[in-house]
Amino acid sequence: MRHLMSPMDFTVEELEELMDLANDIENNRDKYSEICKGKKLATCFYEPSTRTRLSFEAAMINLGGQVLGFASADSSSAAKGESVSDTIRVISCYADICAMRHPKEGAPLVASKKSLIPVINAGDGGHEHPTQTLTDLLTIRSLNGKIGNMTIGLCGDLKFGRTVHSLINALVRYEGIKFILISPKELRVPDYIREDVLEKNNIPYQEVERLEDAMPSLDILYMTRVQQERFFNEEEYLRMKGFYILDEDKMKLAKMDMLVLHPLPRVNEISVEVDEDPRAAYFKQAQYGVYIRMALILTLLGLNKK
Ligand code: NCD
Repeated sequence: MRHLMSPMDFTVEELEELMDLANDIENNRDKYSEICKGKKLATCFYEPSTRTRLSFEAAMINLGGQVLGFASADSSSAAKGESVSDTIRVISCYADICAMRHPKEGAPLVASKKSLIPVINAGDGGHEHPTQTLTDLLTIRSLNGKIGNMTIGLCGDLKFGRTVHSLINALVRYEGIKFILISPKELRVPDYIREDVLEKNNIPYQEVERLEDAMPSLDILYMTRVQQERFFNEEEYLRMKGFYILDEDKMKLAKMDMLVLHPLPRVNEISVEVDEDPRAAYFKQAQYGVYIRMALILTLLGLNKK
């Protein structure tokens, strides 16, 4: 049995297969519409979510399966003090696969150790968010034709943003990737990412504070929200919140074929006028999130034979 805790759990070849399957699903929806008949997905979400939980549910429904679960800790027995280990043992009796989001780093991993069904990390605190990364990779590959030989700007909250940590982890395995890390000093990527991932793999990167300076050299701009819920101090959050706002004027500095990605939700870091720019790919990205989660469910259930 296989779980997904980090994008590193899949080799680059396996990621390619997963993305091939997602593209096949995109082009042949009917072929997959009953493949999970009789199967159930549990979504155990101890933290707020719109896209991740609903795209998992949509993915399972599109495959002909069914869904059950809870959307907040206070509507589950966590509110009575139950551990994730106990919860997953019980969920294993009700469902065939589980997607779990938790505010504590490592909670889905703890659950996976006791689980009788595949567990997918749907975001654990400020640590990792592997299915967002699968979504990001599929978006880049589908819209750009390839992943590799590109300069990627990651902008915003690189300290607490789990999507950024997982994306860096995944991308360093591709050829010719350069990063420009755009953040205020207070929100730079954690040392363990800089040292153990970027430096260890000899990946070229620069850390800058001004988005305008980075814009002209980027092939991809990955914007992120300042992660309010991970701040210890409200004043600090308010100071950081308006640091970056991508608008039409900044888009004028970018290449004509640069892609703008954002895992969403957006707060104010991309102004709505950018939505009409053909380079804005964040809503397409949300659609790719459904296809890749369909491919992932099939793969973890061993139903991925085309
Ligand atoms: C992200 C998350 O939960 O980390 N959202 C998502 O799953 N698309 C990004 C965020 O909340 O800022």
